[in-house]
Amino acid sequence: MTLPPGPKIPLWLLSQQLDTNPLGCLDAIYQRYGDIITIMAGSTPIVYVSNPSGIKQYLTNTKEITISTIPPGDSPITVGQMGQQGILHIDGLVHKHRRPLLMKAYHGERMNATGKSICELTEKIISQQTIAKTFIANEMLSKITLQVAIEVVIGLREGERYEKIKHLYTSCMKYEKSPLFEIIKKLPFAQLDLGRLSPWGYHKYLLKEIFQFLYDEVKERRKQADSSRTDMLNDLIFACDETGKPLSDEEVRDLLFLPISASNNGATDSLTWLLYWVHSLTDVREQLLDELDSLGENPDPMKIVALPYLNAVCNEALRIYPSSMFSLARVVVSPVEIMGYELIPGTILFTNIYSTHQREDVYPEPKQFKPERFLENKFSPYEFIPFGGGARSCIAGAFSSFQMKLVLATILSNYKLTLVNKRPEQAKHSNDQCYAKSGVKMVMHGRRQHQGKSRPLVSDFV
Ligand code: HEM
Repeated sequence: MTLPPGPKIPLWLLSQQLDTNPLGCLDAIYQRYGDIITIMAGSTPIVYVSNPSGIKQYLTNTKEITISTIPPGDSPITVGQMGQQGILHIDGLVHKHRRPLLMKAYHGERMNATGKSICELTEKIISQQTIAKTFIANEMLSKITLQVAIEVVIGLREGERYEKIKHLYTSCMKYEKSPLFEIIKKLPFAQLDLGRLSPWGYHKYLLKEIFQFLYDEVKERRKQADSSRTDMLNDLIFACDETGKPLSDEEVRDLLFLPISASNNGATDSLTWLLYWVHSLTDVREQLLDELDSLGENPDPMKIVALPYLNAVCNEALRIYPSSMFSLARVVVSPVEIMGYELIPGTILFTNIYSTHQREDVYPEPKQFKPERFLENKFSPYEFIPFGGGARSCIAGAFSSFQMKLVLATILSNYKLTLVNKRPEQAKHSNDQCYAKSGVKMVMHGRRQHQGKSRPLVSDFV
């Protein structure tokens, strides 16, 4: 058996290089070893694929390759974060059954109904920025995505309970991105729970509080069951498992945790990059404003999300710096051939989303931000893959694109912002997320005057 080639340096060194310079590190590995590579974790081969036909080959193979779960106790951070019955800890029939229950809140009519509140919330939060004062785009955007998530997942929009859960998640996410937590995460011996005032204990305390809050909310909602509500929590308390029994309160609690934190992480980082690109490139911004202005003032959210150039700009931002650089893991369960290599049971497979999106043969001049490529070409779901694919693909991919378009359109149409730094923003990597190192510093210059339809429309461009 010959495994695909790959770097021979220790895993810890590689992951350090990846965290500090994720794009340079992955570009160098791709240049040297090609589009299927192996990294050994002890005796387990981990294979990363960035070839569209290879990705298709394994994502569509449900016989020899299965979705992986995080084994209980394997990682204190993820297990603590998501509860034992969260979506990432289940597989097989149970996973197949729970996924659609979570997806309901993010699709079709439900998704469309959130459009107005995404625009209103964005307007409310961006209007709070002080004129001529610097702000961090990532922090401002995180407020929007978290509040949207709390509404979609547990149906809270205001009040004491809403403020409490917002505060808990904000503190937890902020702490997880702090330099102190970045350090203790990598030092198993520092992961001691010595109470709320210790670095590890504080994280555990926040998670415990969040889980307790979610549990109380499930209990309370069961008492006043109202089938007309349209949030994820309601879907789950009225749902039955595969044997016809209602889901337990603990299971509902565990299932609710990830959708709120994923909304805040993936969606905020993607939106931050989007705002950065649009404000770095005058031509792109002008063209986008022409398209947005063509809809008149206060357009219907459904008209905004149908704009072709806006769609192309959002896709290009997700392509060039995908906030998830890799998919979740898949595992080989019986011998299988992928791209000419025989993989043995136990081999772990990941889609290398970033390197797939950097392929010169699919995306000429891949380092250039060129939204036109999405107007001129249609890419396959294995070439453009920001939300992964197959049985563990993102449950909120369509919703996240929808949200990105509405947040960007609301900000750009109504406010004048500029970037503080003229230098290119640096990418950092942590927990498989690719994020902007500075958070993107911006300055608010006040409200923008709507320009009417004076400029040529973007459709001239298509
Ligand atoms: C732009 C924002 C987002 C990006 C780029 C993103 C990306 C991804 C990716 C790459 C995966 C792994 C797919 C695979 O392994 O094939 C994933 C899985 C997942 N995402 Fe997202 N995501 C985003 C937003 C969200 C949001 C808003 C939610 C809220 C519900 C969410 C919930 C999930 C869940 C639950 C999974 C695991 C699904 C499963 O285990 O079946 N994501 N996401």
